[in-house]
Amino acid sequence: MTVKQPIVLNDLPPDLDSTCLPQHIAVIMDGNGRWAKRRGRPRIMGHQRGVDTLKDLLRCCRDWGIPALTAYAFSTENWGRPLEEVEFLMTLFERVLRRELEEMMAENVRIRFVGNLAALPSSLQAEIDRSMKDTENNTGIQFSVATNYGGRQEIVQSCRAIADQVKQGLINLDDIDEALFEKYLYTTGIPHPDLLIRTSGEMRLSNFLLWQLAYAEIYVTQTLWPDFNREELHQALLDYQQRERRFGKV
Ligand code: FPP
Repeated sequence: MTVKQPIVLNDLPPDLDSTCLPQHIAVIMDGNGRWAKRRGRPRIMGHQRGVDTLKDLLRCCRDWGIPALTAYAFSTENWGRPLEEVEFLMTLFERVLRRELEEMMAENVRIRFVGNLAALPSSLQAEIDRSMKDTENNTGIQFSVATNYGGRQEIVQSCRAIADQVKQGLINLDDIDEALFEKYLYTTGIPHPDLLIRTSGEMRLSNFLLWQLAYAEIYVTQTLWPDFNREELHQALLDYQQRERRFGKV
């Protein structure tokens, strides 16, 4: 009797066109709490499992030739969650960063945290600084983690910074255009995502990368984040490759 082996999908599946892959994928990792609840476990179990999913997605993007990934780890609204969950998440981010830094270096990952980082616990800020500094010259996949991130907050802080420059006479009102505005965003220098994936069925942007997602294709799956895997990414990419991207033209 032959035993059916699970498909591992180490390489880009042959039904995908390697010349038409998104150059940057953004993910809203939703459904961790529900995943845990369905198993009668505390919500934090879902977040813990979610880290493994994110790690494999990052590797998968690298393996399949997708050069940038951004994950929504904590929104400016997430402070409204129960205190124990917020504290758990902060500790989890710190622990994961400390644990994974060596491996990220070995795998040539360049990490950037985007969001209002100054409001995070100081021990987490220290790990974030260290990981960004240590990996800044790496040349592999660009991995961005949105932490204490809100799209509106990002746009407002850019406006304030630009207004301040105008006030100081360093730039003129006429100098303000989309290219200049870009320079004040947390994501400056990173090409905008072509594809947004949201797990667990909700059809919302939830204040994620409002400026940067202007022309992104959106793919929503019912799968809960901890269950998202390479086959799910394969399906998202097949769907993406069937879309006609017109950028407002005919
Ligand atoms: C949303 O699910 C998930 C989060 C708010 C946290 C996601 C964070 C991780 C997976 C950890 C990432 C770690 C690093 C270091 C980048 P939910 O709790 O809203 O789920 P629910 O909608 O089912 O309640």
